[in-house]
Amino acid sequence: MLLRTERQPSAKRSSGRDTTEKPTRGADVMGKGSVLIFEQDKIVRDVVSSTLARAGLEVHPAAELDAALQAFESGKLDAVILGAASAGDGASELIHAASRVSLEVIVLSSSPTIEEAVAFVKAGASDYLAHPARSPELLGRIERILERRRAREDLRSTRQENLKRHGVASLIGSSPAMQRVLNLVDCITDNHDATVLILGESGTGKDLIAKMIHWSGPRAEGPYMNVTCTTLRDTLLESELFGHERGAFTDAKTQKKGLVELADGGTLFLDEIGDMSLAIQSRLLRFLEERAFRRVGGQADLRVNVRVIAATNRNLEEMVARGEFREDLYFRLNVIPIVMPPLRSRKGDVPLLVRHFMNVFHRELHKPVLEIEPALMGQLEAYNWPGNVRELRNLVERAMVLSTTEVLWSVVRRRSRPEAPSEASFRLPPGGVDFDVLEKDLLSQALEAARGHQARAGELLGLNRDQVRYRMLKYGLNSPAPARGGLALRV
Ligand SMILES: Nc1ncnc2c1ncn2[C@@H]1O[C@H](COP(=O)(O)OP(=O)(O)OP(=O)(O)O)[C@@H](O)[C@H]1O
Ligand SMILES: [Mg+2]
Repeated sequence: MLLRTERQPSAKRSSGRDTTEKPTRGADVMGKGSVLIFEQDKIVRDVVSSTLARAGLEVHPAAELDAALQAFESGKLDAVILGAASAGDGASELIHAASRVSLEVIVLSSSPTIEEAVAFVKAGASDYLAHPARSPELLGRIERILERRRAREDLRSTRQENLKRHGVASLIGSSPAMQRVLNLVDCITDNHDATVLILGESGTGKDLIAKMIHWSGPRAEGPYMNVTCTTLRDTLLESELFGHERGAFTDAKTQKKGLVELADGGTLFLDEIGDMSLAIQSRLLRFLEERAFRRVGGQADLRVNVRVIAATNRNLEEMVARGEFREDLYFRLNVIPIVMPPLRSRKGDVPLLVRHFMNVFHRELHKPVLEIEPALMGQLEAYNWPGNVRELRNLVERAMVLSTTEVLWSVVRRRSRPEAPSEASFRLPPGGVDFDVLEKDLLSQALEAARGHQARAGELLGLNRDQVRYRMLKYGLNSPAPARGGLALRV
């Protein structure tokens, strides 16, 4: 059994945000606010933009939906203003994209109606104003959004201090996917008890997230018990997890507390939960259902105050379907799922991670930071990172130890020998296929994977957004429903 309480070298968690380059602003009345305005009418866009800029806000005007969606990728926005008439079919897409990165949306409408207001609020907009809005009113709404964001940032930095104090490594990532994970972690830390299930490929940071949840919240004062389920032996399981009384069995010379009891007041991290045997699963289920257990040989039910976090890189749903994982346990664990995105799906984080680990190893190994030429960085971004962040970390470490970027180049070169099956390996079955059915199915899958983001779904299929839209119309497909009870908005 692998059991340990964790302490790691300290470093600051960084979102990787670049705070050095700022476009010109007006008088700095609003502090460091950055607002996207998506409005197709140039006059309205210019008027609102200059009102915001005069108040000291950084303004990102966008006349096209794609440009507006692109602006989210920067991770630097604080609020979004959406011109109601400009939105067309893309309104729910834009609001959905904003809500996924926790950005509030103010809708400005030149011909406001109650119905329109209700539709936008239902779709997830936080505010709805008639245009032309009086400047103090518009600025007041933005100021309140900024205050809410500042409060959240303050909370994050307090937690950051906690993490640093407890030596938890920095979590790097400014991609929208990682920002979503961080937002979720914030919510989870607020809720002290809910069970969390962390899913994702090996090396994506599941372990790190579990530590962050524990060490950044009030449970940080309690123990963090890390149990690697692969190593739990069936026979001794009950005693190892729940402890035993003296004399409960031949070898039980003394009373022993189990892992669950040792985690009281803190967190029990069940790593590699997908490797747990069915026998162990049923015992764990009883504990999760009743939050009570008995030591082996004990008479009394004991209760503990423990948050359970489980993690696995296996596909639990498939395991449930194959009868290898209990469905009832899966539902018990899957209260708050966190899906860690693979590194290849957030290539923008690669340069941040490379620089971060170079600094880490510069401090640890006292080796000079290597110069990574742009061509190499571009290649590293394009690499598919099957071992995710762990692979990147190890590579940078090796490059630093050997003081040469040749190590990184050699990995990049290997990429020209593809490991994954290429498109050419899609073989036509002897009986042929119904092409329309296949196309519709692939499109649905891509939309699902991209959570309804049409441009991103297109990237997965080598199509542009218009081609995706055309096919959605052709097959009568709707985007998956937005997270905040959105509706397919036609305004
Ligand atoms: N976003 C990140 N920022 C900085 N370091 C990271 C990040 N993600 C992962 N790491 C580092 O990469 C290494 C692997 O991460 P971790 O052990 O958390 O992965 P895992 O998902 O638990 O993998 P496995 O499934 O193999 O257990 C660790 O050194 C971790 O600190
Ligand atoms: Mg792990």
